Amino acid sequence: MKKIFLTLTAVVIPFLTGTAQIKNPIYKDKKAPIEARIENLISLMTLEEKIMQMNQWTYGKNANPNNIGEIMKAANPEIGSLLYRSTNPEYRNQIQKKAMTETRLGIPIIFGFDAIHGYRTVFPIPLAQACSWNTELVKQSCAITAKESWLSGLDWTFSPMLDVARDARWGRVSEGYGEDTYANSVFAVAAVQGYQGENLADKYTIAACLKHYIGYSLSEGGRDYHYSDISNQTLWETFMPPFEAGIKAGAATVMCGFNDISGIPASANHYTLTEILKRKWGHQGFVISDWGSIRNLVEQSVAKDLKEAATKSVLAGVEMDMVDNAYLDYLPELVKEGKVPMATIDEAVRRIIRVKMKLGLFENPYVDVVPEKKRYLLPEYLKVAEELAAESMVLLKNKKQTLPITDKYKNLAIIGPMVKDSVHIMGFWEGMGRPEDVETIFDGLQKEFKNKATLNYALGCNFEGEDKSGFAEALAAAKKSDAVVVFLGEKRNWSGENGSRSTIALPKIQEELVAELQKAGKPIILMLSSGRPLELIRLNEMADAIVEIWQPGTVAGSSVAGILSGRHNPSGKLSITFPQTTGQIPIYYNMREAARPDLGHYQDIPRDALYWFGHGLSYTTYEYSPIKLSKTKIQKGEKIIAEVEVTNAGSRDGKETVQWFVKDPFATISRPMKELKYFEKKEIKSGEKVVYRFEIDPMRDLSYLDSVGVRHLEAGDFYVIVNNQKIKFELVD
Ligand code: BGC
Repeated sequence: MKKIFLTLTAVVIPFLTGTAQIKNPIYKDKKAPIEARIENLISLMTLEEKIMQMNQWTYGKNANPNNIGEIMKAANPEIGSLLYRSTNPEYRNQIQKKAMTETRLGIPIIFGFDAIHGYRTVFPIPLAQACSWNTELVKQSCAITAKESWLSGLDWTFSPMLDVARDARWGRVSEGYGEDTYANSVFAVAAVQGYQGENLADKYTIAACLKHYIGYSLSEGGRDYHYSDISNQTLWETFMPPFEAGIKAGAATVMCGFNDISGIPASANHYTLTEILKRKWGHQGFVISDWGSIRNLVEQSVAKDLKEAATKSVLAGVEMDMVDNAYLDYLPELVKEGKVPMATIDEAVRRIIRVKMKLGLFENPYVDVVPEKKRYLLPEYLKVAEELAAESMVLLKNKKQTLPITDKYKNLAIIGPMVKDSVHIMGFWEGMGRPEDVETIFDGLQKEFKNKATLNYALGCNFEGEDKSGFAEALAAAKKSDAVVVFLGEKRNWSGENGSRSTIALPKIQEELVAELQKAGKPIILMLSSGRPLELIRLNEMADAIVEIWQPGTVAGSSVAGILSGRHNPSGKLSITFPQTTGQIPIYYNMREAARPDLGHYQDIPRDALYWFGHGLSYTTYEYSPIKLSKTKIQKGEKIIAEVEVTNAGSRDGKETVQWFVKDPFATISRPMKELKYFEKKEIKSGEKVVYRFEIDPMRDLSYLDSVGVRHLEAGDFYVIVNNQKIKFELVD
């Protein structure tokens, strides 16, 4: 009887007693040191209250305001977090009020959501953003996302994704910053700074979440959610650095992946989650599981049931359970059975509370409520969106300066399924972006070419299928025009989560449309919108010019039209390699040297990729001076300055990104063909010369990580590589 009473009081009292019971506790004193506040709160919490903190539930998309009361009743105010899918800040505040005033301890809820490349203002997909090489614009886009999100009731976004991605069959290549480890690291920092601002407690800032820790992009064969076989060398060299950079930049949270890292799933991996992330790197915040990834441990055959899955995850270092209820249902008994120590629970709660305290939620649990027109799509947001979209577009090919479209073209055929689209152009994870907000390509072209050129539009074909009934109209439009601009591409869910494809070629019908249009004998300008690199081996031959416009988001129209007209001079360079064919995957610029470099390539296709990482043309021409080094021999503690002068030798102003690579021709562990170590984008006016500098710090730039994460710096020759030039220097002991 006594036992039953005790259990009941433990469960019921927290809900009944209200906050009055505890007088002036330290945890409510904002002047007290954070750690003292956390310890005080933990000392006052029951086991049930602690476990509630370790769970995230969803708060459903609520199209019907009449149901909101019901849903809010269902939102238990003691829950640690809600995945908040409403755009209404008032609902958030009401739920939060219940948490603050109707629970015993008044612990605020943290509200999270996937604002991946924008909230209501949709920016280009992250893969595209990386092609801009403009960290400042990426940071600004994240700050805008944070502001729109915060004003909609959010404290937290599940972004950035830092999975270095080299298999374009994997749909989620669209969500990250491409194939290079260093690029992912730099954009990780930009994103964290953008979302989190100077101080997480400030208004309009939200917590970042680095994901998917770790190695998820190596999903075998590009099949989403699959096993990933990762050697420790690759884990350290390729996958760890971006996460380490994000943690150093102060990222508040981390999400573990679904994948199974050589037999130990990421969601049950003590080595990566606890030994590295927390002990080695000192991550102070918490780790959330990915949607269902605790439950998935059963499918992955490392846990016999959900109870064992909960045990493995929590002991490995996953502090918050996203929607599985595994912690909620099993942690109470696991603690009582002694299978999960109370200290593990306390540590998890400590981390969750720490993030809430850093966000200032205990003092300022509510967000401001401002009218929607002051919240979303402000002109300054759209300006950043246009700049970022335009800078992310990559001019892949431009035979005989087909582009830009100047007055030499009076009639333009505008063809293809992407022209009037307002859905797919936003890409996957469009946040709360709405098709009606999107400026379509057609809208943008009409504005751009008003009184300058006649637009002859025809659909031509749909994204897929076999219907060629629109071909004739498209060909007629092409015949009466001076140039043919064809907008092809992928639907939004052909990439993104669970968007793996066995071929990265566009559907046959789209290629056939271009073949048909060739019959008009006019220049063909191909504009490609996709969430991944495409197989262009056939289309490349048919087109005079090709621009990869990616999935540019809300301001698609003006950014695309500006690239076509030359109002925006293309400055994007690929963040991921375009293979010749799907069968050439994996192919990326920093592969290791082959035993017989000239042999062993696929015999049926050219040996090189079609467009390598870093490729991207401009409407102007840049001339690079020879690389100058401040010294050619240095000791390990010294630095060398490498310099190159770039002249804009064309007639248009432009922005040029100089990418500095290093090559270590001989080391104990074989090194990649070259590795990006630094990049910088600068504006160069027509006729101007600008100097780019790279200060080489041997420990940072010439060393490598081994399979246990130890850094080695070996003396010997090195090369600095810029734009096909290479210069040697020597590092001595
Ligand atoms: C995805 C995550 C995402 C989460 C929450 C999962 O399925 O893998 O990237 O953050 O859902 O929506």
